[in-house]
Amino acid sequence: MIIVHEQDLLFHLKNTQVSYVFRVMEETGILENLYYGSTISDYENFDWLLEREIRPGNNLVPEKLLTSLEHIKQEMPVYGTTDFRYPALEVTYPDGDSISHFRYQGYKIFKGKEAVKPLPATFGEADQVQVLEVFLKDDYSDLHLTLRYAIYKELPVITRQTFLQNKGQQDYLLKHLASLNIDLPNEQYDWLHLDGAWARENHLSREKIHRGVQQVSSTRGASSHVHNPFLAICQPQTTESQGKVYGFSLIYSGNFQAQIELDNYDYLRIQLGINPFQFQWQLRSGETFVSPEAVAVFSLHGFSGMTQAFHSLFRRHLIRSSWKDVPRPVLLNSWEAAYFDFDEKKILDIAGASKELGVELFVLDDGWFGSRNSDKGSLGNWTENCEKLPRGLANLVRDIKAMGLQFGLWFEPEMVSDDTPLYQAHPDWIIGHPKKNISQGRNQYVLDFGNPKIVDVIYDQMDKILKEVPIDYLKLDMNRYISEAYSSELSPVQQGEVAHRYILGVYALYDRLANAYPHILIESCAGGGARFDAGMLYYSPQIWTSDDTDAVERLVIQAGTSMVYPLSSMGSHVSAVPNHQVARTTSLDMRKNVAFFGVFGYELNPLALTQEEKEQIRQQIKEYKAYQELIMQGDFYRLATGDTNRIAWMVVSPDQSEALVGYYQILAQPNPTYQRLRLRGLKEDDCYQVIEANTESQRYGRDLESIGLLLSQNYLGHEPEYWSREMLGDFSSRLVYLKRV
Ligand code: GLA
Repeated sequence: MIIVHEQDLLFHLKNTQVSYVFRVMEETGILENLYYGSTISDYENFDWLLEREIRPGNNLVPEKLLTSLEHIKQEMPVYGTTDFRYPALEVTYPDGDSISHFRYQGYKIFKGKEAVKPLPATFGEADQVQVLEVFLKDDYSDLHLTLRYAIYKELPVITRQTFLQNKGQQDYLLKHLASLNIDLPNEQYDWLHLDGAWARENHLSREKIHRGVQQVSSTRGASSHVHNPFLAICQPQTTESQGKVYGFSLIYSGNFQAQIELDNYDYLRIQLGINPFQFQWQLRSGETFVSPEAVAVFSLHGFSGMTQAFHSLFRRHLIRSSWKDVPRPVLLNSWEAAYFDFDEKKILDIAGASKELGVELFVLDDGWFGSRNSDKGSLGNWTENCEKLPRGLANLVRDIKAMGLQFGLWFEPEMVSDDTPLYQAHPDWIIGHPKKNISQGRNQYVLDFGNPKIVDVIYDQMDKILKEVPIDYLKLDMNRYISEAYSSELSPVQQGEVAHRYILGVYALYDRLANAYPHILIESCAGGGARFDAGMLYYSPQIWTSDDTDAVERLVIQAGTSMVYPLSSMGSHVSAVPNHQVARTTSLDMRKNVAFFGVFGYELNPLALTQEEKEQIRQQIKEYKAYQELIMQGDFYRLATGDTNRIAWMVVSPDQSEALVGYYQILAQPNPTYQRLRLRGLKEDDCYQVIEANTESQRYGRDLESIGLLLSQNYLGHEPEYWSREMLGDFSSRLVYLKRV
């Protein structure tokens, strides 16, 4: 998969789906990119891909005064080499300048890949992935740069990670180190990103790329609700099923930047990495700084192709939990069932009623610890709330387990409230400047997780509970952003390290928990989806997608999230109506049909259900269990309906023997036109049994793809008056199951 042309110092990363070609440029010794896209042949000589033009107005590199890097496609551009675009690396030298020149030194190839501590990253066996490391050295210092490329055999995926090592005697200030830099010729591309806010995460945006710089980023200490560490570029005609797409994702949960720069020669520079905003790292003599890994996915088959590549990579080569392929228990979470208002009896009653519905795992959410009866205190005091749970957690859990349920517990380990012994003993353990404004968010402070001592103290509190109480599942939450980054532990020159050190501390805690308790299923959460990113996926195979549980809102949120992240990672629950976030009332069937396309569960009080609803839920859980493997392992397609009022998606088993289609109509329309839903991913020549509610028919895969299923209702053979018809109405849904005959 990695071809090296020794004489030309040219590297060709290649599998059956992608090619990525770069070389050592003449004289300058910098790395020049020649091609990235669908697989091309390997040529003895790739000179035909070179693009050189002497342009008036360009500054020329000193070597032969022939070349300017201003219009050269590069792998790791730096400042001070005639390139005026934004660099991928910036170091401040002792003289105060940031002029660098990193020159090629050599390379190494190996098979198989592991994540390099302290960061999460993709991994694979020797027959699945190959790694190319290219070494460069700075002309002006003893700084050594390693660019680490990985290519996955079965997937259109290339990843890159960057390492900067200080082999010199003095310290340097690192201001910026991008994980990935790709310069590509523009093809009138659009760009895609996922944006939002609390309770409306991951709404998909698509815009034309204009000249200059466009970016999505975070300055909040978490990847955030606002933008996701992802962007894609695509041809203007690209759709779900066709067209060229390059998708990029950063395996990181903190302040990130994903940037596009369209220059005056119609080259696009795409960069992903830690956000240089307020970032500065003191790279001491002998130390190495490791960037997060970035993933690049290529698809000629539209957004579905990109999505499936991300999903396969993350499922097979990123999620490390032993749970990754195991069917997850159907859970009921106490949050929307009780909020803070519960005692032991109420919890036992809810758990008992859940069990009767067929729920497998009961999760006790916020409010079980310290003296927490609202969101105003007790974070950091992880001992049971004796007023609410007078017999202690262990007894409660014993009783719940005796019912035949598994038990899960909520923590928010990164936070502290000012009414706790922890805060009172260590007010300087929070992030913030002691003499300046330190804001509270949700009445709480952020612990300085950059300090390993603090992570240890929190780990020990959690460990004590996990040792005493048989817990099967953890929901690990994070509910406020960092707005005044400052650490009392760090020197003035190191204050630019706070946000990255914080995330490293978060990863260290998750790593310890995952190692010590490998059987525990971890679901991460950050006020819903504020850290729904590939970094967290490494530790937690499922993530709470959004605090918004309304079925209609979830259609948009889950479709956006599914662009990058697999259904097996998206926590999605049926909640009560009127919905607690938007006061909308939808049917239990609609709520179930939306929540099915994820990790299914409930977030409601079963004691408040009618007998009829209880019976319906019992059936829903049985139905989900029957489809669960298909949903967890299948290939996901968002289907075209030509309309934002109608949403449809489907999941097809890897062997194409079965599929499940969800179709959702937001608002009903009078006198609708005939519409058909074209399915995807089926085997053309195979005949499928098409099963919906009580109707069954047989159709060939080819015909289901080319003609599709009729969406409007049909009155063949009888003509009821419109007022006596049964209509689907607003917020309606259909679920169709297909099985190969
Ligand atoms: C966050 C989570 C919710 C719930 C609450 C508890 O908002 O996203 O699911 O756990 O915290 O305070």
